[in-house]
Amino acid sequence: MSVDLGVQAARIVETNRRHVLFSWSVQSEIPPVPVVRGEGCHLYDADGRAYLDFSSGLINTNLGHSHPRVVEAIRVQAGRLQYAVPGLPNDVRGELARRLWEVSPGRDLVKTLFTTGGAEAVENAIKIAWEYTGRRKILTNYRSYHGATLGAISASGDSRRWDYEPGVPGFVRIFGPYPYRSHFGVPPEGECEACLRHVEEVVRYEGAETIAGILVEPIIGGNGVIVPPDGYLQGLRAICDRHGFLLIIDEVMTGFGRTGAWFACDHWNVVPDLMTFAKGVTSGYVPLGGVMISSRIADWYADRYFGSGLTYSGHPLACAAGLAALDAYQEDGLIERARVMGGVLETELRRVAARHPSVGDVRGMGLFYCLELVKDRRTKAMLLEWNGPDHSVLVQVLDTLLARGVFMFGRWNCLFVAPPLIVTEAEMRRGAEVLDEVLAIADQAAG
Ligand SMILES: Cc1ncc(COP(=O)(O)O)c(C=O)c1O
Repeated sequence: MSVDLGVQAARIVETNRRHVLFSWSVQSEIPPVPVVRGEGCHLYDADGRAYLDFSSGLINTNLGHSHPRVVEAIRVQAGRLQYAVPGLPNDVRGELARRLWEVSPGRDLVKTLFTTGGAEAVENAIKIAWEYTGRRKILTNYRSYHGATLGAISASGDSRRWDYEPGVPGFVRIFGPYPYRSHFGVPPEGECEACLRHVEEVVRYEGAETIAGILVEPIIGGNGVIVPPDGYLQGLRAICDRHGFLLIIDEVMTGFGRTGAWFACDHWNVVPDLMTFAKGVTSGYVPLGGVMISSRIADWYADRYFGSGLTYSGHPLACAAGLAALDAYQEDGLIERARVMGGVLETELRRVAARHPSVGDVRGMGLFYCLELVKDRRTKAMLLEWNGPDHSVLVQVLDTLLARGVFMFGRWNCLFVAPPLIVTEAEMRRGAEVLDEVLAIADQAAG
């Protein structure tokens, strides 16, 4: 990607390229876009160029950028108490935990262990499941991502784990629902039953009494925004109850209004035993995550030692940001807004998709959508093979979007459309328009 940069902008790019090790990136391919400011749904580079943030960063800046309420809360907290040891009570930490319980599925997740992000939340959920059940195996989905630390990457199903294997032992992988291309070769109406039968079979072959729990994203996120059929999550809940192990739901990407509900599992009224969160809890302004535990598990710990923790567990700046973010979600009506605007987004994306033979599927919920790109709609052959070595067309599409002022996130043949929940119809239309132009690249590659 080539851009004419001013002197200051060029210096920022050069310093970063020289001294920063960029995550999940080929270092020589970092786009020359020196981001220095954000406001609403836009990022601005050092030369003042605006970029529509059409994937909410890494699907975390749910409130957009510079939300005044959150910025002010961070400022005030920074002037009052900057650090609080995790082993003593603290006002903002306690209040945020209480507010999270209030909005939690079934109002049963009574306690929160705070972390600094999603991966640590997953790590601790695993430890708690091991400790509570006295068992070690955890079932996870092949199409899943749970974080980059050693335990969380071992739990993840996608290819990011390959380089670190054998990693942490004890994870057993299952195939989850994927109605567009069923792993079981059944039509969409048979997918739920086929997937649940598969899970039951894996449980039988692994030995139910060796399993601590099932860890799932309620809607698969980074592996392609796959919404499960109605009945799937309820079915997993029933399997866990039948065999006496835990349901661990990872809401790191789907939480805080992203799908048009506080948490995605609310769509199916499923209450997990453990629930992880991060990203949207502070709209990404200060790093924060956590694992919430059910009343049953909280009672079990009542007189027991909990042997895990972090220096920054429940950091006051993060908790103050979290409290202000929760206020913003509630007072600005953003959870409902995500539902309504999601309808507008879906219409826009289906209109764009109809004009591009390379778009095989449009799917999602709320403001959480994905376009799956194919070589041929009839055969559904992927434009870029999932987990394959070739990223070329994707890089071209994403770089061209960026050069035209739209930031988006993508992986292989999936483009993620997930604007901040404050997005306007005009912003959404502009994003869709640019996407419409740029998808010509994918059509051409599809041949
Ligand atoms: C479902 C899910 N779990 C966990 C994580 C890891 O979160 P973090 O990057 O904050 O460690 C992610 C990150 O994208 C995620 O999508």
